[in-house]
Amino acid sequence: MLDPTRAPHLPTSFPRYAAPPLIESRKPRCPPYNVVSSVDQLMPYLDVVARRPYNQGLHACWDLKPGERIQLRVDNWHDPMVIEAAKRILEKYGCKYDILHVDKGPVRQWSGADEVEYYLYRTKELAQWMDQWDVMSKEGKYDKLLWGYGGPVLVDTHMKIQRMPFITPEILASPAHLMPYELLQAIDLWTWKRILTAKRVRITDPEGTDVEYTNHDGYYDRKREFLNPDLVHDTWTGNEGFGKTYLPGHVLGKPWVYLAGKEDGNGVIAGTTNHIAPVDWTQLVIEGSKIVEINAGGEFGEKLRKLKSETDHLSYPGFPGKGLFYWWEASIGTNPHIHRPRKDFPSGWINCLYERVRSGVIHIGFGTIISSMNERRAAKAGLPVGHWHLHLYFPTVRLEREGDNEPIIEDGRLLALDDPEIRKLADKHGGADLWLQESWIPAMPGLNVQGDYWEHYAKDPMKWVNAELTVCREFHHLFMPMVGGDPRFCHDTYGVWGGGPGAHAIAEGRAPTANHAHTPGGSCGCGH
Ligand SMILES: [Fe+2]
Repeated sequence: MLDPTRAPHLPTSFPRYAAPPLIESRKPRCPPYNVVSSVDQLMPYLDVVARRPYNQGLHACWDLKPGERIQLRVDNWHDPMVIEAAKRILEKYGCKYDILHVDKGPVRQWSGADEVEYYLYRTKELAQWMDQWDVMSKEGKYDKLLWGYGGPVLVDTHMKIQRMPFITPEILASPAHLMPYELLQAIDLWTWKRILTAKRVRITDPEGTDVEYTNHDGYYDRKREFLNPDLVHDTWTGNEGFGKTYLPGHVLGKPWVYLAGKEDGNGVIAGTTNHIAPVDWTQLVIEGSKIVEINAGGEFGEKLRKLKSETDHLSYPGFPGKGLFYWWEASIGTNPHIHRPRKDFPSGWINCLYERVRSGVIHIGFGTIISSMNERRAAKAGLPVGHWHLHLYFPTVRLEREGDNEPIIEDGRLLALDDPEIRKLADKHGGADLWLQESWIPAMPGLNVQGDYWEHYAKDPMKWVNAELTVCREFHHLFMPMVGGDPRFCHDTYGVWGGGPGAHAIAEGRAPTANHAHTPGGSCGCGH
């Protein structure tokens, strides 16, 4: 798959294909672009979220109860329509709430290279939030906080903490937030149970990743039900319940603890997106789970190399060796309907963080383990802390297991979605066609769109993504035919986007009926 380098300024290897390898199997998909003009259109989604059972994961599960004392934290980077909808739902469910409005200053426009400083800063901010939560938990003024949309959660014995991932109406008014929780949970568990029993894990991706690691017994308890209690205690002191297992919506494709002396992640990781935005193609060479080389990557690569050279000699608590640049994360998203927001991308909170939870997307993370006690210890010792990412959109994950080897993700398709039991469960709620098809598959020239991967995409991915999102937003009916996509997915067959009739039906506990619908004035280019 990887060709040797032909010029000295280029990385050790990068993908070259005679023809786009996924052009038939993973055609681009982009959901309908329905403009939301009233708060009413947002209510069915929040109704479903309000009733999902509470957990600490990344699925929005507010579990609102009458009389519950809630603080919702928002800032001026949230769309006011979404804040108003959240307020109405808190009222509808009889909560005693207050809304904390924070001024974050002007909305930032992002480039992918900003991720380096962003996470150096953000990690400190999260550490402050955690200290603040400690105090709030002791004060006992609230039963539940709805804050932020990634990162940590504290011990929740006295005060629960859930997410506020809804930044704009476009993000909220999606079937991702209508998904029945029992289905999301079944998909999470299908994935996690297989990883728990894997001896070795190999991850490949057509953007140039080929990496593997041994899933040592030492990472787990005796029965391999949870992570090793000693490692969990050391890494996640005080928050062991959270650290010992996967996070709903964010399944651990690599355990989020380091096993000193045994870390054997080896290979190459490459990609064109981090949590902030697309970046120039970046390659990481991994030996013993340590990043030993960072190649290409434009400004992102430059900044990472600088930070690496500044931290390679430092000792971090709980790390397997010297340096900050250890690979700890290969987390797997599980919700098929999450999509990249098109409006105002990438600015403010509208960045690539949200899309990491689409089913089958993997985010690779390296650095300190987010919100772990070891990260807080390192921060208190004055060490630079943070972690950085590359996303894989078309990964294949093969597990070597006792007796049978099996892939759990194939070219970005999480195979839980094809499992007969899970499909049966989906049928209970309206069918696999409604719930188990991804709404969004990014269009990447040279991979699943005509073109040369390097020339037309990877050497400057932001240039392509800007063009892609502009066409998708402004000329939606042209987009699918232009990229050779599958127009079926912009039909809104079930009326579940932008507050359509299907969304209201689901919120009322009924299954929506299939109907070939188009937004007024729009068309998907299907000729209907
Ligand atoms: Fe993560």
